[in-house]
Order: sequence, then C-alpha cells, then structure tokens
Amino acid sequence: MSDHDIEASDAEERMAASTSDASLRRSLERSAEIERAIATDPSKFRIMTGDRPTGNLHVGHYFGSLANRVRLQNAGVETFVLIADYQVITDRDGTGPIKERALSLMADYLAIGIDPSRSTIYAHSAVPALNQLMLPFLSLVTDSELRRNPTVKAELDDSNGRPMSGLLLTYPVHQAADILFCKANLVPVGKDQLPHLEQTRVIARRFDERYGRAVPDRPVFPQAEALLSEAASVLGMDGTKMSKSKGNTIDLSMDATETAQRIKRAVTDADRFITFDPTNRPEVSNLVMIGALCTGRTPESVADEIGNGGGGGLKKFVTEAVNEFFAPIRARRIELAADPGYLLSVLRAGNAHANEVADATLADVRAAMNMAY
Ligand code: TRP
Repeated sequence: MSDHDIEASDAEERMAASTSDASLRRSLERSAEIERAIATDPSKFRIMTGDRPTGNLHVGHYFGSLANRVRLQNAGVETFVLIADYQVITDRDGTGPIKERALSLMADYLAIGIDPSRSTIYAHSAVPALNQLMLPFLSLVTDSELRRNPTVKAELDDSNGRPMSGLLLTYPVHQAADILFCKANLVPVGKDQLPHLEQTRVIARRFDERYGRAVPDRPVFPQAEALLSEAASVLGMDGTKMSKSKGNTIDLSMDATETAQRIKRAVTDADRFITFDPTNRPEVSNLVMIGALCTGRTPESVADEIGNGGGGGLKKFVTEAVNEFFAPIRARRIELAADPGYLLSVLRAGNAHANEVADATLADVRAAMNMAY
C-alpha cells in the first residue's frame, strides 16, 4: 500500500465515523464549547454558510438554520453567506431562472435580518479565485473518497436514475473551496453535512502536508469546524421533509392567505385530543412544534392549550402563530422584492468583497505551491 492509499483510507474511516453516534455526541459537545467561545470573543471566528438558489426559503429553513445565522451575525461573528449558484447544476440540467432566484434568495436573507454591513453575501460564479482553488484541491482527494461521501450518494439516489455528473461527484471539493476561500473556521450545519466538513478538513490538512505554507508557521487553511444547532427540524404539511418539490412548504414569501391554505391542507390524525408526541403522532406534533417555535412557547404548553380542539383548533392556532411571527419579515420582504436594483447592488458589493478575500487566499496558495510568478 502506498502512502497515499493509507492517507485515503484513514480519511474514509474518519468520514464514516463522523456520522456515528459517539462522534455526533462529540460534535454536539464541541459545538457547545464553541458557543461559549463565541460569547467570550466572537472575533476568533469566521463563519461561512449558504444556500442553493433553487426556490424560496421556507419556515423549515428559517427555524433550521437561518435564525441561527442571524443570531451568530448579531453576536459579532464575521459571516460569509454564499448564494451557491454553481451548486445548482450539480443535480439538475440547466440553471432555471437563476438570476431571479438569486435575487429572491437575497430578498429572503435581508428580510430575515442578514445585514450586508456586517455579512458578505456573494455568489459562487462571481468569484473566479474561489473556483480556481478547486483545481489544487482535486489533486488532494481520491475518486473512492468522493464516491463514498454520504451526501453525494444521497443526492445521486434522489436523482431518479440521472447519471452521476463530474460536478456532482466532486461537489464536496467545490464546497471545501467555498469554505476555505475565506479561511472560515466555523460552518453552522445540520448533522447530514458533517461528512462535508470532514472532507474540507482533510483537504486543508493534505494541502499543508503536500504543498506547504505561504508563511512558515501558519498553514494556509484553518481546520473548519461544524457548529451543530439544536434546532428542531420542521417537517412539511404532509409530515415529510419540507421541500418545494412536494408542495408542502410554508415559504417566507407567502402571504397570510396562502399560509392559511397550506396549513388547512396539512395532514393530522383521527385523535381529537392534541398532544405533543413526535414518535407516534409525527404530523400533529410537527404542527404543534411550528406553533411553539412561532410563539416562543414549549410544544407541550401549545398542545395543552389546544387540548380537545382537534385538528381544526390546532390548524387555527398554527396559522395565526405563523402569520403573526412572519408578518414583519414578510412586510420587509415585499419592499425588498420591489427593488431588484437594490438587491443586485448588495450582491455586487458582496461579490467585490468576496473577490478581494479570494484573491488574497489564492496568492497564499500560489506562494505555498511555488507558483507565484
Ligand atoms: N450545500 C448547501 C445547500 O445545498 C449550500 C452550500 C454550498 C454550502 N457550499 C456551502 C453550505 C458551504 C455551507 C458551506 O444548500
């Protein structure tokens, strides 16, 4: 076995291990430690996160990740938010109305409180030096590592027999470039994304081992860590994963009437008495949870209050709670969406800053690789 093989199989084991229970517990403990460190000194951290511009952000995104990003930004952590436009073509043919979707995502971001004076919002495709990192990074991963990546496998399984494209296979490497171009050391993610972060750390470490450093004592890239949130995952109105393609979402961009219609069609069950019991009553409990998140109450107290009100009482409560909670965000979003010129100007400013950062990183990479001509 060559050195390289040893290196690769170690990494594969670590990646497999990163989804095991023990390692999940470690990641959660580490996340709690990081939260304490942020409270002490937010300037030690740089966060990178983002979304594909494939459709509207919804309540599931909001409670699953967006609210947490805004909290971290407001705690003083420098934040980079990626509109992952190139990633859209990993698992679909063509881009769709991508510019409109990128601007719609921008409107969602600004409406929820991502503040462009504190956070850099930028698009993949506008940052050439970020994409150029992909080339040396590809030299640091093996074909079998990529094929084993659980997220790549999951996306391939979901793609209805569509053959694996080169971009789908290598998108964890591209995602590593997203994270490392700005030398981010913290990525707020759900646990399904842990293998990506492990792959990113492996790439950073191998770059250091193989190509060296631009400055003697300092590796070019940091070891990026996951910040797992404790957020409950919110399901769609049919009790399955909230997803645009299933028509089961409640979007940030919907109005009160559309929201009421979606919730009216939500699946409940035959038991009139409302309880919070996610294992045995997933659909009802999901609605209770959404009501709780929007009112800042515990799901148990929401369930108690509705009690004998049945599915109708539950839906009425949830509709009012969602509409009230999201009203200010939606009002801001309407204003923002009416001014695409402004949205574009925010994106251009973010792109300009991202390019400066990416150019500086690429200069370090060239220096480390002895390619600074
Ligand atoms: N994979 C994320 C999504 O599907 C988007 C994304 C791309 C991302 N690059 C990233 C998230 C880097 C965190 C870090 O929405």
